[in-house]
Amino acid sequence: MVGHCSSHPDILDLGREELEKAKQAGVLVDCHVSHCGDDMFLIMTHDRGENNTEIHKLAWDTFVKGTELAKKLKLYGAGQDLLTDAFSGNIKGAGPGSAEMEIDERPSEPIIVFMGDKTSAGAFNLPLYKMFADPFNTPGLVIGAPLHGGFSFEVQDVKEHLQVTLNAPDEIYDMLVFIGSGQRYAVKRVRHRDSGEIAACSSTDKLSMIAGRYVGKDDPTMIVRCQGNFPAVGEVLEPFTTAWTVEGWMRGSHHGPLMPVGLKDAHPSRFDGPPRLVSLGFQLANGKLIGPNDMFDDPGFDNVRQEANDIADYLRKHGPFEPHRLPLEEMEYTTMPDVAKKLADRWTPLSDEEAASTTRVQPVPAGSPPPPETEQQPR
Ligand code: F6R
Ligand code: MG
Repeated sequence: MVGHCSSHPDILDLGREELEKAKQAGVLVDCHVSHCGDDMFLIMTHDRGENNTEIHKLAWDTFVKGTELAKKLKLYGAGQDLLTDAFSGNIKGAGPGSAEMEIDERPSEPIIVFMGDKTSAGAFNLPLYKMFADPFNTPGLVIGAPLHGGFSFEVQDVKEHLQVTLNAPDEIYDMLVFIGSGQRYAVKRVRHRDSGEIAACSSTDKLSMIAGRYVGKDDPTMIVRCQGNFPAVGEVLEPFTTAWTVEGWMRGSHHGPLMPVGLKDAHPSRFDGPPRLVSLGFQLANGKLIGPNDMFDDPGFDNVRQEANDIADYLRKHGPFEPHRLPLEEMEYTTMPDVAKKLADRWTPLSDEEAASTTRVQPVPAGSPPPPETEQQPR
């Protein structure tokens, strides 16, 4: 509402009215509108399958109408997430993040919807790994028969637009090579290996690079099914008892701790953060969303909130230095091209002596023998 810290209640009401109309018209089975920080989240159930144009258009039109109202209220950054002028058939790539899954509803279907603000796609890699591949987090992987066969992870290379599926536990070392770098590789889906059932889906929409600058926001979302063949509710929430370092925060250009909060605390204001995560639990009943439970509104998460504040204090002391500030190529805001241009004629070559003492990368011809080992010089 003020700046980028929260959502105006009128915008959320508008979202509710639009989705309710679609529900009355039979387009949706059920809906729930919520928020984290300055982002409105549309939670929708329907029976039209994934990537359905009508559903995606409903989401797009709701965000466009929300933008119009936000402009009337002169809210800051109205419509900043809508990157295209017209709807192209699918909301993917148009700005807002999205996660969809098609399921056969079980006799009892507990699901948790995660909603993040001031962070980005890839922030869920580590928590998803812990939920579905780490027995120190999820004892069900060891002592729960339905989980013992493990889970498969669909990993996307968000820069090269490739994907690969890797199996846990057998391929975890290969998988970690990639998903350890969340700015490039993001876990899109997790499946139960024995049955092939979808277990989790996250939004992997990244910011768009336009004219050398990142534009739009990519505050992520994720849906996780719980119990039975999947981790228990408590195993799904347990990864968030550590305030993991994620990308985002001020100007989308800083590392900061991910703080799990109840809805009442989902208003990031300190240095436009720290990054927040809300989780809403629902029981599905024939597509109806029974709930929600505001899962992080639990004193059991007080310690991680304290930890997040301590990490925030420590990282803030770095000011404009890495690792608080993101590496140059990952920042959402940068003055680098302009400053580099301005200073272009002021850079002069180093003297030969100084140049000799700095690292030089020399191309090694293919098939060359390895360089001789140099003896360690005493310091
Ligand atoms: C981060 C975020 C904010 C803004 C910041 C500057 O995701 O939304 O930190 O980036 O408040 O906003 P502008 O450039 O709109 O003044
Ligand atoms: Mg946001």
